[in-house]
Amino acid sequence: MRIVLLGSPGAGKGTQASMIAEANHIPHISTGDIFRYNIKNETELGKLAKQYIDKGLLVPDDVTNKIVQDRIQKEDCKNGFLLDGYPRNVYQAEFFDNLLEEKNLKLDFVLNINVDKDILINRLGGRRICPNCGATYHIVTDPPKIEGICDKCGAKLIIRSDDNIDSVLKRLKVYEDETKPLIEYYSKKNILIDIDGNKPVNEVFESIQALMGDNK
Ligand code: AP5
Ligand code: ZN
Repeated sequence: MRIVLLGSPGAGKGTQASMIAEANHIPHISTGDIFRYNIKNETELGKLAKQYIDKGLLVPDDVTNKIVQDRIQKEDCKNGFLLDGYPRNVYQAEFFDNLLEEKNLKLDFVLNINVDKDILINRLGGRRICPNCGATYHIVTDPPKIEGICDKCGAKLIIRSDDNIDSVLKRLKVYEDETKPLIEYYSKKNILIDIDGNKPVNEVFESIQALMGDNK
């Protein structure tokens, strides 16, 4: 099964992606996670990506397209994958369509998670992440058992470098201008499913699983 997850920053893409990928036995590919991994390890890609990410801007398309092109060739993507945060604009979507066409593959679902703007800002403001294992928490809706400490690995939680208010507002604007047009792009292909992402995590997940089942 090949799935793309669309949604604004803070919509819960990463949270849902982990659950959907696990339930459907497919790898979760997050371009944002790939960039953050490279930033942490101070690679050349990380140094380049950081300049854009901290400002809330998109990393250049050619760089991002190449990463996804290489990643989906890997053995673990043989039976499908879930893309979280890619494609992010029409240019990336067209590149990705060509890539799939060359391989004679098709997308099964594009899940579009909708969340109200005031909720998005609250979610991003309260997000904490584990720099060691990548787990995501929220200080109100999904706090760790011990404040500030990752349940999974015991590392000290941090605030993501692009979760400051200036970057958040910029990311929301980039979403409106560049990513939102993908809703129409995929609607026209009849593979878009709208999801109400305002509800609690488990309810959103259950509705995704049910809607995917109905549209198989
Ligand atoms: P990326 O990592 O993709 O970030 P984003 O799109 O800004 O999305 P977020 O990770 O902020 O939000 P999310 O929807 O995953 O929400 P989450 O599940 O964490 O991209 C980061 C940057 O990398 C970009 O700005 C860009 O620079 C670059 N980049 C990435 N992909 C690129 C591409 N294709 N091209 C170019 N550049 C690219 O949830 C948020 C919070 O809410 C958490 O605290 C969570 O616990 C909580 N929460 C989640 N769901 C719920 C719920 N249902 N109820 C209550 N709380 C919830
Ligand atoms: Zn951890």
